[in-house]
Amino acid sequence: MTEDYRQFHRRSLEQRDAFWAEQARLIDWQTPPAEICDYRNPPFARWFAGGATNLCHNALDRHLAERAAQPALIAVSTETGTEKTYSFAELHAEVQRMAAVLQTLGVQQGDRVLVYMPMIAEAVFAMLACARIGALHSVVFGGFAAASLATRIDDAEPKVVVSADAGSRGGRVIAYKPLLDEALRLARHQPAHVLLADRGLAPMDIVAGRDHLWRDMRELSFDAQVPCAWVDSTHPSYTLYTSGTTGKPKGVQRDTGGYAVALAASMRHIFDARPGQTYFCTSDIGWVVGHSYIVYAPLIHGMATILYEGLPIRPDPGVWWRLVQQYRVTHMFSAPTAIRVLRKQDPAWLSRYDLSSLQGLWLAGEPLDEPTARWIGEALRVPVVDNYWQTESGWPILTIANGVQKTPSRLGSPGFAMYGYDVKLIDESTGEELTGAQQKGVLAIEGPLPPGCMQTVWRDDARFVKTYWQSLPGPLRYSTFDWGVRDEDGYFYILGRTDDVINVAGHRLGTREIEEIVSGHAGVAEVAVVGVADAVKGQVAVAIVVPRDATACTDAATAQRLEAEVMARVDAQLGALGRPARVVFVGLLPKTRSGKLLRRAIQAVCEGRDTGDLTTLEDPAALQQVRDAVAARAQVSS
Ligand code: PRX
Repeated sequence: MTEDYRQFHRRSLEQRDAFWAEQARLIDWQTPPAEICDYRNPPFARWFAGGATNLCHNALDRHLAERAAQPALIAVSTETGTEKTYSFAELHAEVQRMAAVLQTLGVQQGDRVLVYMPMIAEAVFAMLACARIGALHSVVFGGFAAASLATRIDDAEPKVVVSADAGSRGGRVIAYKPLLDEALRLARHQPAHVLLADRGLAPMDIVAGRDHLWRDMRELSFDAQVPCAWVDSTHPSYTLYTSGTTGKPKGVQRDTGGYAVALAASMRHIFDARPGQTYFCTSDIGWVVGHSYIVYAPLIHGMATILYEGLPIRPDPGVWWRLVQQYRVTHMFSAPTAIRVLRKQDPAWLSRYDLSSLQGLWLAGEPLDEPTARWIGEALRVPVVDNYWQTESGWPILTIANGVQKTPSRLGSPGFAMYGYDVKLIDESTGEELTGAQQKGVLAIEGPLPPGCMQTVWRDDARFVKTYWQSLPGPLRYSTFDWGVRDEDGYFYILGRTDDVINVAGHRLGTREIEEIVSGHAGVAEVAVVGVADAVKGQVAVAIVVPRDATACTDAATAQRLEAEVMARVDAQLGALGRPARVVFVGLLPKTRSGKLLRRAIQAVCEGRDTGDLTTLEDPAALQQVRDAVAARAQVSS
């Protein structure tokens, strides 16, 4: 950490209100905030309370005077071979049409709209339209299957669901409408209406009175003018579900004013970006990175943003770099997994295009390994910036603030604590703060969390407090559930999760969610799911199953059949991301004497590592069975 940044960070904590009052000027307020941070009821922080603003106004309307004709949204699909640029004025018009349609369908301020969509422009229209009228969007990743979607529909209770006929991946059409219909059959809550973008990719069964085509409704609202609803800064803008220790995903709830200020400030201080430049974030709108850095932050900052549907290697492994050249991309944001996929391709693809516009590549979502960081850094010859954060935070917790002061990265480290974050390492058993270098502890944040971070768990304040603020002993402190260490200069290193969350290709999944689905199979008596290291995806899920019929432990054909059924079940209920890469059959699972599953030991065995301390293990034979079964399974695969 350099001295200037150190001062900047210190000021953000010691003169908190003055610091954030300054940042608040980066956005438009209809009424300025009455108070900067109300922390009278910890751990609930109310940022910029009394201030009235609107996310959509800040993303679109306020830029119209200066940049109406400049590109705002560049929607590229290498799946359908389409590329369309919407200027700020055009995007503004589309969003007003969408807002009018939602209003026609009965959506009012405070209502929820669930968005289950592929990476198409209409998804962005829907999100911004919700923000415009003060409704909350709840975007569900398109890769989630019907049962997962149903759980989220029941929790969010949306008035309207916005969806599409289909997405496409690797040239394969994935029909969304049948998945949505199945989810609505499973869900207790029924939305009044469903709005559908028809891409002409898959046939749709239309339910009369409930289902409407965007194409038709858009025509009816073509000239609509829908003013922005000025909402209090603390008015929730959206919920986004994320995995934790239990099988039930949490609805992370975000505010309006704090989020807008945090994103605007990050574009300046972290990304060192200018209005008029082009941002290309390869994430998905179903994840937090997509919310913050495909949709809101670039637009709030007056930049063009690229929305990309497709794979990084199709039609060829140069496709992202072709886009960088064509749209003069200045800022690129991706995940280490994608770079590992590209690294397996011919390196010549990286020198075929003019990448001189690019200022940097930001990578997040999972640990950035040194070989990957080095490889892409040398190939692009721009800074590669690791950044660490969470769905809960909404913007980077640890990274390098190049807009404050250019600072070199350290390989293996996402960097240092960002302004506003009072990051500490805590001893998990005593709750004491670890201040020395190289001491391993739980990465925690002292309240209040800065603007932009989650307000609460949707409709569950108690869970917010208990899960995040009371998991560590001692005073109320936000736990990230990640292990970390810090070096002498304040650079942090992330050492993995403290809970049962795994990270598959940069996507966060709870092992409990997968276990609940697997154990629902009639042939499964018991199951443990662990995350196992994978060279490309970072981690993959592996299921260790105790079958009801022990034949699966000895007969290869029975095992294969049951494995295929277990995989298909996860595909159908959660989605392919959570599908175990392997299912291994054993007679019993290794547990402690008190009956707790020894996941860490199972994981170590699957990764061929030392299992560490096993004094609490009830029956050593159980772990030996896992060891033998994993070894036998490895032989079958090779
Ligand atoms: O374990 C950390 C890991 O991903 C988790 C958060 O995932 P999600 O809620 O999907 O948000 C992703 C936003 C970028 C964290 O608790 N993680 C995220 N970034 C990094 C990381 N682990 C190591 N290095 C990172 N840069």
